[in-house]
Amino acid sequence: MASFHEICFTPAEFARIAKIDRALIPMLEQEGLVEITRRRVGNVDRKIITLESVQNYFQFLRQLMNDGVLDAALAEHAMAGEGAIAGGTQTPVEVIEKATGINPLVAAATAVNLGTPKHKVQMFYNVKGGTGKSTLTSQFVMRAAMMGYKILAVDLDGQGHLTVNLDFLDGHQNGTIYDVLINELPMKDAIVNIAPNLDLIPANLGLCNIEIPLNHKPRREYRLEEAIASVAHQYDLIVADTNPAASILNCSMMVASDLVNVICATNPLSFHGMSLVMSTIEEMKREFRREMNVRIIPNMYDAREVISQEVLGELQTEFSEFCASTVVHRTADLNEATKRRTTVWDVNAKGTAADDISKLTEELLFV
Ligand SMILES: Nc1ncnc2c1ncn2[C@@H]1O[C@H](COP(=O)(O)OP(=O)(O)OP(=O)(O)O)[C@@H](O)[C@H]1O
Ligand SMILES: [Mg+2]
Repeated sequence: MASFHEICFTPAEFARIAKIDRALIPMLEQEGLVEITRRRVGNVDRKIITLESVQNYFQFLRQLMNDGVLDAALAEHAMAGEGAIAGGTQTPVEVIEKATGINPLVAAATAVNLGTPKHKVQMFYNVKGGTGKSTLTSQFVMRAAMMGYKILAVDLDGQGHLTVNLDFLDGHQNGTIYDVLINELPMKDAIVNIAPNLDLIPANLGLCNIEIPLNHKPRREYRLEEAIASVAHQYDLIVADTNPAASILNCSMMVASDLVNVICATNPLSFHGMSLVMSTIEEMKREFRREMNVRIIPNMYDAREVISQEVLGELQTEFSEFCASTVVHRTADLNEATKRRTTVWDVNAKGTAADDISKLTEELLFV
């Protein structure tokens, strides 16, 4: 069992994350793009790749893309035509190498989306409790951090579940968003580092008392947006987990957010609450005259249960324009990851949960 900052991957797991053929890894290593170290497990020496090395790999590729090097190579590849490639005269990698002089293995990794997140500030929301907000927030931020994005996670729930899920257990000693919004603590001073590229503003029980003092503050719904703006330049992505209520704190997070991810468990009561959730969001849009993107994420889906199938069908029909294409299944792995305070990749990198979280992360980042 490892905390997220200590997590390491086997070469096969790395190949899954990078979407490359495992056979390329020794060559990537030779080129210095990925660092393989050895760790003794029992009496076996195992090859491992650290979290930092995985992040460096993606950051390097992103840098190449941002410099326009890969774009030029891919354009050249398109001009070379599919026929030439299928005919075996030149593989895409060879075309790219010829055009740019870059190592072909770098180009091979263009299999991965390396873009800038489409929605920089996101929140996970539902007035109903227990739908999986904290679970999916923590899994999403850890998975996105694995891709080398610089991320700030913000815990807006006094229960502190995001804080616990990210294995930060000293939340009671730290400043929280309460201190930022009520006691004028600078946002940057409430931030703790969890792992390379992953920071957190933790929460503790004291945050449950924020509603009354926040209600009396001037410009109460805009304070959080301003606080987030003060640190936003340091991050690629800012993601908040919220409390299960129509609270002022949650309203202020909506004002600050580019994307609201509504987590809906595929059970009848969760579906029943969706109309209320969606009308609350509509009201917020009108009141604050703010364009807000909304995505509904079905969670805890079990294909063996008729009721789960029915609720998913109703969600996809009634809220078709908002429903995510990713459906997160109910799995023991996600529960286990919560218990062990780590990513599902650390529990079972080949399981349904790891696949669901990877797919969800890509959808929330790029679609
Ligand atoms: N897809 C899933 N498969 C299995 N268990 C899940 C899944 N999603 C969430 N859980 C489990 O459900 C429980 C509740 O999840 P979580 O705490 O994330 O809900 P929440 O919406 O944040 O709750 P609250 O409203 O109290 O903040 C946790 O034990 C979590 O491990
Ligand atoms: Mg929660």
